[in-house]
Amino acid sequence: MKTLVFFGSAREKGHTRAMVDLLLENLEGEKEIIDAYRTEVQPCKDCRFCWHKKGCSIKDGMQDIYQKIEEADNIILASPMYFHSITGELKSLIDRLQLYWAGHIRNDMPTHFIKKGAILMVGGAPSFENQFLGGELVFKNLLNDLSAELVGEVCLPNSDVDSLETRQDIAKDVVELANKLNQANSSK
Ligand SMILES: Cc1cc2nc3c(=O)[nH]c(=O)nc-3n(C[C@H](O)[C@H](O)[C@H](O)COP(=O)(O)O)c2cc1C
Repeated sequence: MKTLVFFGSAREKGHTRAMVDLLLENLEGEKEIIDAYRTEVQPCKDCRFCWHKKGCSIKDGMQDIYQKIEEADNIILASPMYFHSITGELKSLIDRLQLYWAGHIRNDMPTHFIKKGAILMVGGAPSFENQFLGGELVFKNLLNDLSAELVGEVCLPNSDVDSLETRQDIAKDVVELANKLNQANSSK
């Protein structure tokens, strides 16, 4: 089983990373983190190359990431909320995954889910309605375009005050999510 994490926090040792680390500690198989703040990739320029060919005209570090996506059984999307959405750096990297969305135009989308997906998000503010909605919209639609079935989502609100140490219930949810992913991939 191979797991690829798209990690979108500016802080290398923040709450989002703590969520990712706990998930990975409890996940079997090979694991790799793509760190959006420390990966140099250019933004999508909407050249529409991918409307005709499943690839990208920009030859940079993304080529390697596309290969890792193809090989991954699990795609984990992890970001803090910045102004009610995922961070800009991660969004810019995700825009380079337009070639998966363009499968709708090329007409070569897989007809069924071929991967599993999971979402981890952190918000500094005390919990409020729709705190994570902006991130959910981006992440859930991306998982669909990657033909990845959403297995679960865990969010940590109030991270200005709380952490996985003070919110053991949320830490437990992260471990349970790892177990679900292990079970969902038990044949791999
Ligand atoms: C530019 C910026 C915008 C933010 N916007 C929000 C927000 O809309 N909602 C929220 O709950 N927290 C917001 N926060 C707080 C972060 O989500 C919080 O600090 C989180 O813990 C950061 O993740 P990290 O611990 O992985 O660095 C914002 C923080 C920054 C720096």
